[in-house]
Amino acid sequence: MTVIPYKHATDGKKSQVARMFNNIAPRYDLLNHLLSMGIDKIWRRKVIQILRQSPCPRVLDVATGTGDMAIAIHRRLKVSVTGLDLSEQMLNVARQKVARRQLTDVTLVQGDSEGLPFDSSSFDAVTVAFGVRNFENLEQGLREMKRVLVPGGRMLVLEFSKPSVFPVKQLFRFYSSTILPFLGGLISKDRAAYDYLPQSVEQFPEGEDFMAVLSVVGMEQIRQYRLSFGIATIYFSVNPVQ
Ligand SMILES: C[S@@+](CC[C@H](N)C(=O)[O-])C[C@H]1O[C@@H](n2cnc3c(N)ncnc32)[C@H](O)[C@@H]1O
Repeated sequence: MTVIPYKHATDGKKSQVARMFNNIAPRYDLLNHLLSMGIDKIWRRKVIQILRQSPCPRVLDVATGTGDMAIAIHRRLKVSVTGLDLSEQMLNVARQKVARRQLTDVTLVQGDSEGLPFDSSSFDAVTVAFGVRNFENLEQGLREMKRVLVPGGRMLVLEFSKPSVFPVKQLFRFYSSTILPFLGGLISKDRAAYDYLPQSVEQFPEGEDFMAVLSVVGMEQIRQYRLSFGIATIYFSVNPVQ
């Protein structure tokens, strides 16, 4: 069953997801760093470490949100980065950061990952952090990300997963089903958004299951890096050369 943010709304997942992120955009960064206790920065850094292993002059960061991943990639790797997101309000926060830092090689585009407004083979690497879980059609989004990659280009997906070891598993479950929705709801004023978060993590394919989806859409050399006892995972894959 598809998990949606607003159970009583009649519009589809994509429209609800855009509305939810438009609602929480002003508080998103604060909540992100607070609720993850800053670990999200370490996870993003790990993505960049992997990217650094081969040249990628043109990077697309899908579901870029408030732009932290796009900005970090540009600053650390000195490459051109395009960030794309569905939510205009999330992008507005990203635009302010890019302007404040006077970054000329970070381009922000409003659009849908399931129909990317870019030519085929136009990026050397595609990243997406905490975005794929929110796609209405996961396979379509991944197919589009593959289409815009050059042959041999790399796709890096960072997403929440579920820790499996005691006591992290139990602690994480308690934290994400009680503290996180409470604090998230209080600060963002959108409790549904922070109820949706653990529910969407719970039903999302992880580990071997997500790797199988990457394989179905045609990616190769698929690997996973479990982070922080499995609270998050990076999925690495390569677009075949033919
Ligand atoms: C949890 S936020 C992650 C933002 C950012 N990547 C980060 O690491 O903080 C998820 C983002 O995915 C975006 N999103 C969800 N579905 C999308 C889609 N179909 N196309 C583009 N962006 C989408 C949302 O608007 C939101 O900004």
